[in-house]
Amino acid sequence: MRTRRTARVIIAAFAGVLLAGSMAACGNSDTGGDSGGDDKLVLGFSQVGAESGWRTANTTSIKEAAAAAGIELKFDDAQQKQENQIKAIRNFIQQKVDVIAFSPVVESGWDTVLKEAKDAGIPVILTDRAVDSADKTLYKTFLGSDFVKEGRLAGEWLVEQTKGASGPVNIVELQGTTGSAPANDRKEGFAKAIAANPNLKIVASQSGDFKRADGKQVMEQFLKANPDIDVLFAHNDDMGLGALEAITAAGKVPGKDITIITIDAVKDGMQALADGKFNFIAECSPLLGPQLMELAKKVEAGEEVPARIETEETTFTQEQAKAALPSRKY
Ligand code: AHR
Repeated sequence: MRTRRTARVIIAAFAGVLLAGSMAACGNSDTGGDSGGDDKLVLGFSQVGAESGWRTANTTSIKEAAAAAGIELKFDDAQQKQENQIKAIRNFIQQKVDVIAFSPVVESGWDTVLKEAKDAGIPVILTDRAVDSADKTLYKTFLGSDFVKEGRLAGEWLVEQTKGASGPVNIVELQGTTGSAPANDRKEGFAKAIAANPNLKIVASQSGDFKRADGKQVMEQFLKANPDIDVLFAHNDDMGLGALEAITAAGKVPGKDITIITIDAVKDGMQALADGKFNFIAECSPLLGPQLMELAKKVEAGEEVPARIETEETTFTQEQAKAALPSRKY
C-alpha cells in the first residue's frame, strides 16, 4: 500500500506542476512542498529537556532508533518549558513534517497547538507523558508507562516492609515537575497504596523538578524541618541521588537511618540500590525509541494503532539490583 505521505507528495507534486505553469506565466518562483525531499519519513520530536539520567537515556533511544529505522528525525530540546514545546510543534507544522511526537512537560494546555497539528493533517504521538485533553482525537496514541502503577508499587513495598511497625512512620516525598503526568500519577498511586495504614504519614511533600541538584536542596530543607524522617519517596532516581548527599551531610546513613524508595532504575540509581543506599526502585523504562518509530510509520501510513501502549516494567530490591546491574544498558 502506498503511504499517505507518498499520496501527499503526489498531490503536492501535481499542485506544483499547476503552480509552476501559473508562475511561469507571472514570472515568479517557489519551491515549497513536503519537508522530506527524498521519500524518508520525517518525524518532528519535542523532548522535555535533559533533566535526568532517564531523560538522557530516552533521547539516546529515540535518536538511535530513528537512525536504525531510516527515519529523518527533527529533534528539539524544550529545556523543561511548555512554551518551547509549543513553539517547536508549531515549527514542525510549518515544516510539514510527516509525524509529530512529543513528551509533554506538563499535562495541561495543549489543545490549541494539537488542534493546529490536526488541522494541518499531521498525526501526533504522545510519548512517555500524557496530556489531559478531553478531545482524544487530537492525538493518535500514547506510548509510555503507567505512572500510577509505579507509585502504587513503591507504596505497596513500603506497606509490606513496615507491617507490624508500632510507632508512626514519617515519610517525605520529593515530587517530580509540578503539573507533569509522572508527578501527579506517582503521587496518587503512592498515596492510595499507603492510605489504609494510618501510621504511614507523609509529613512533607515538595517538588524537586526531577533534578539531582533540586532533590538535594529540598531534602536539606526536609531534614531541617523534620528531625524524625523514616522514609524518603523520590519520584525519580536523580532526586533520590541528590537527597543522598543531603542525608549523608546531615550525619545520617542513607538506606539505614532513612529508607529510600525511588522510581526509574537508571544505572546510577541501581548502583545506589546495589550499594545499600537505596532500598527499593520501581522501574520506568526510557527505551521507547524502537516502538515510537514503528508507531510513526503506522500512523503516517494511516493504519489504526491502539489508543494506549504501555511499557513493560518491573521492580528492584537491593539483591535484584546487584544481579541486574552488570547487564543494565542505561
Ligand atoms: O516522564 C518520565 C520521568 O521524567 C522520569 O521518571 C524522570 O526521571 C524524568 O525526568
